[in-house]
Amino acid sequence: MIKREKIKDLLNSTAFDTEVKVMGWVRTFRNNQFIALNDGSCMGNIQIVVDFTNTPEELLKRITTGAAISVEGTLVESLGKGQKVDVKAKTIEILGDSNADEYPLQPKKHSLEFLREKAHLRFRTNTFNAVFKVRHALAFAIHQFYNERGFVYMHTPVITASDAEGAGEMFKVTTLDFDKTPRTDDGKVDFSEDFFGKATNLTVSGQLEGELAAMAFGQIYTFGPTFRAENSNTTRHLAEFWMIEPEVAFADLENNMQLAEDMMKYVIGYALENCKDEIAFLNDRLLEEEKTKPQQERSELSLIEKLDFCLANEFERLTYTEAIQILKHSKPNQKKQFKYLIDEWGADLQSEHERYLVEKHFKKPVILTDYPKDIKSFYMRMNDDGKTVAAMDILFPGIGEMIGGSQREERMDMLTKRMEEMHIPQEELWWYLDTRRFGSAPHAGFGLGFERLVLFVTGMTNIRDVIAFPRFPKSAEF
Ligand code: 4AD
Ligand code: MG
Repeated sequence: MIKREKIKDLLNSTAFDTEVKVMGWVRTFRNNQFIALNDGSCMGNIQIVVDFTNTPEELLKRITTGAAISVEGTLVESLGKGQKVDVKAKTIEILGDSNADEYPLQPKKHSLEFLREKAHLRFRTNTFNAVFKVRHALAFAIHQFYNERGFVYMHTPVITASDAEGAGEMFKVTTLDFDKTPRTDDGKVDFSEDFFGKATNLTVSGQLEGELAAMAFGQIYTFGPTFRAENSNTTRHLAEFWMIEPEVAFADLENNMQLAEDMMKYVIGYALENCKDEIAFLNDRLLEEEKTKPQQERSELSLIEKLDFCLANEFERLTYTEAIQILKHSKPNQKKQFKYLIDEWGADLQSEHERYLVEKHFKKPVILTDYPKDIKSFYMRMNDDGKTVAAMDILFPGIGEMIGGSQREERMDMLTKRMEEMHIPQEELWWYLDTRRFGSAPHAGFGLGFERLVLFVTGMTNIRDVIAFPRFPKSAEF
């Protein structure tokens, strides 16, 4: 059995003169004497001091950037600047060589674009070590938040026959042979011959199944992968992303907003508390990145200030109608700087409008409610005005839409009417409608895009840098 110390523990240790064994990947090897070794346990490296006069030339040559090595030696107080401890090597074993000419990660600064092409190796950089540690902490915090509140974690299906959002942006799942697709008499593909005996797709949301569970357990959440075949090549969209979807029975839109705000503050607070080194590093990374931008495009707050600010302030709450008034009279609208000008009630808000509201007008997270029914999904509860639905979107600075949710339409007649208007076939959702038939009750829920949360907390600027292996149009490498 392999026994080794983690570098993270050794860097904080004062047990000098003890024998230790460490394993890791070489970051740099200077002057045939100093190895910076990293094992992923933290961003920092431990310095291995090599007695090169007593080390075979052949071995020294194999200590190259990227190589995996095992070192046995003595933990000593460091004589150098910048670190407290060193390991004075007694024996060094090469576990896996790394050809220095071919290894893509050279000991220098690489651009995020370059590293995206090398996503299989980018975890070995400080930036991605920090990003994925924060991602882990946020995922853990989400489970802890819901667990503490007695929510049941539901695993909803990945393959489904329904389109929860009714937007038709689905990836088909099939085992049919494309060269010999069976056809019905009227020439359409005959899905009765397919694996499931009907047309199926990857889920766009676990909400509908989540509602079924909420109508039994009272409060549930999902946390799983979701898929959207939307052709959006932006820094905020992925074709495969992770979503957290709580659903609560006996709850209205107010309860829903409160839950969402509590959750966001809890998980951001958790990350700040538990990822101090990582967030400090990412804070500095962002400051460096901002320096390359013109003054007026730089953000007023640093990453840590932004996160602290978010914890300390109530999210702004206003209706869609109020937001339209603000946007209509805003400078960029008057000066025709928006790509999509706002002149009428009913217009769908584009990300430029959302970002104006959060970044310029309110300068904090904003919850917009009561959207026109025509720009929202069929399951949202109709308000008494007959024009708007009890929807909410939570918008974040630098991100735009972070959360989308609503109170659900629990009244059977209203729900089927909306489905008819929006051409959603009732036969396919018979099981969903059954909850309205048998013990219907007011309920509400929302979906949080996990990668957008990770973007916000890490201060990264492209969603492709906060998921391990991003999927987007024309890209499914790794
Ligand atoms: O607003 P959306 O489409 O809402 C739903 O799917 C509802 N069923 C949620 C619910 O009420 N249970 O998506 C929810 C969130 C968005 O606010 C956004 O953060 C994220 O999911 N999201 C995406 N994230 C990355 N890439 C994409 N293509 C995304 N589409 C949505
Ligand atoms: Mg939405």
